[in-house]
Amino acid sequence: MLRQISRNIQQKARFATAVPAPQTKPEILYTGLFINNEWVKSSDGKTFKTENPATGQPIADVQQAGKADVDIAVKAAKDAFKLGSPWRKMDASQRGYLLSKLADLVERDRNYLASLETLDNGKPYTAAYYGDVQMVINNLRYYAGWADKSHGLVLPMDGNYFAYTRHEPVGVCGQIIPWNFPLLMASWKLGPALAAGCTVVMKPAEQTPLTALYLAQLVKEAGFPEGVVNMLPGFGDAGAALVDHPDIDKIAFTGSTEVGKLIQRNSAGTVKRITLELGGKSPNIIFADTDLERAVEVAHFALFFNMGQCCCAGSRTFVEDKIYDKFVELAAERAKKRVVGDPFKPETEQGPQIDAEQQNRILSLIESGKKQGAKLVAGGGRGSDTGYFVQPTVFSDVKDNMDIATTEIFGPVQQILKFSQLDEVVERANNSEYGLAAAVFTQDIDKANYVVQRLRAGTVWVNDYNVLSNQVPFGGYKQSGIGRENGPYGINNYTEVKAVITKLKEKTT
Ligand SMILES: NC(=O)c1ccc[n+]([C@@H]2O[C@H](COP(=O)([O-])OP(=O)(O)OC[C@H]3O[C@@H](n4cnc5c(N)ncnc54)[C@H](O)[C@@H]3O)[C@@H](O)[C@H]2O)c1
Repeated sequence: MLRQISRNIQQKARFATAVPAPQTKPEILYTGLFINNEWVKSSDGKTFKTENPATGQPIADVQQAGKADVDIAVKAAKDAFKLGSPWRKMDASQRGYLLSKLADLVERDRNYLASLETLDNGKPYTAAYYGDVQMVINNLRYYAGWADKSHGLVLPMDGNYFAYTRHEPVGVCGQIIPWNFPLLMASWKLGPALAAGCTVVMKPAEQTPLTALYLAQLVKEAGFPEGVVNMLPGFGDAGAALVDHPDIDKIAFTGSTEVGKLIQRNSAGTVKRITLELGGKSPNIIFADTDLERAVEVAHFALFFNMGQCCCAGSRTFVEDKIYDKFVELAAERAKKRVVGDPFKPETEQGPQIDAEQQNRILSLIESGKKQGAKLVAGGGRGSDTGYFVQPTVFSDVKDNMDIATTEIFGPVQQILKFSQLDEVVERANNSEYGLAAAVFTQDIDKANYVVQRLRAGTVWVNDYNVLSNQVPFGGYKQSGIGRENGPYGINNYTEVKAVITKLKEKTT
């Protein structure tokens, strides 16, 4: 799907006719806390501003949830999960129907949601429309189908017993999501949780609360019972209060490795189930026997897609020495052609970074690259005077121990490293604290299989990059996280397995 966006972006004429015009000033309808299917204000009256990263101008004041609001929302979710509640008595197929209805409502409001995402996050509208919102619809439909298909087994237990397993919902889930794919991450978390029969208190990122809040209203319109989904805009303290709350059974988090570690530590007190989807520094290995021009284009997309704000970004591009110089020349040319600007314009490939903090962080990492001796072959600076733009930047002659080769930059900065031997590149690719994704480009199937089996990463692409789909799991090895989202693996994270053993008078095979 993400590759599809790139192909569409390249075919601008077709693109322009296929996508409805964006709403450049979408009406902001929901800015409150969503608890028990109602919109309420924060207990202490606090609000925060969400801003348009393309201009730095405020969009709206949003209610800011604190610990007291977390307590209220968790109680709502706990009540919705009580034995005998409408949600607990509901047929699994009806849960699926509600999820399917939610997908239909997102599809109905796709133009508005994509516009709102662009306004609040800065991603190009075309990508929001074709990528994010389409994938949300697909995800909700996928998990709608799972609701009545996640079931246990009848087991041939030794002795005079009848044994079976039940897949029961984990319970009340705290879901904490990031700003890089605000609506998509909300659906990746809601889909499997609701299919499994859990209830949810979600905290969207403080930078991008608006689409998640609109989604909450659609949850109500779809007909989910009150308290099943609660949405609390706010900062890290609200996330931390969810993690500490004794009535939360599970935390699902996507964001920085630093906060992921905190969550793992703080969940220990109540032995919460946790799934973590954290950072990455993913290797993209390009052998000389590949289609060079295509590899340059895909490696460009692997890194620059979503302004480089992708946990699985191909941020260590390893290129075989025989084609290294040519690859660098073409990669720099491609980056210089990248269209940066107003994310609402159909030709725009790259919008702003999410905020001033990220922009400054990226610029300081670019400085460190220059200081540590990498060769800057494209970009390297601020992209404009207003908004949080960064020029598409390419470094060649990058060495493994440079900060730009080890730190997750989360920005439009490509690092190109040189290699000459097969085992050497595998070892260097694995030499990272992260293990989220990886890719290998070669026409030699034996070489591809050799590398695939040796890479320590949750996803390995062969001759492509950033191809994600609801049916296929996504998650990390090592410090890139715990657990998998998407596919059948995704729903497993929201179920407890109960073994039921019944004494029989006698057993007959
Ligand atoms: N894996 C990803 O998809 C992803 C997404 C966003 C950011 N990042 C990485 O994280 C870096 C920093 O970005 P960030 O500061 O927005 O990420 P972050 O981890 O601080 O924020 C992610 C979410 O966690 C919440 N949060 C913050 N502190 C918390 C705490 N103590 N307990 C519970 N929840 C808490 C935030 O409010 C937000 O909703 C980026 O530069 C990037 O490297 C990764």
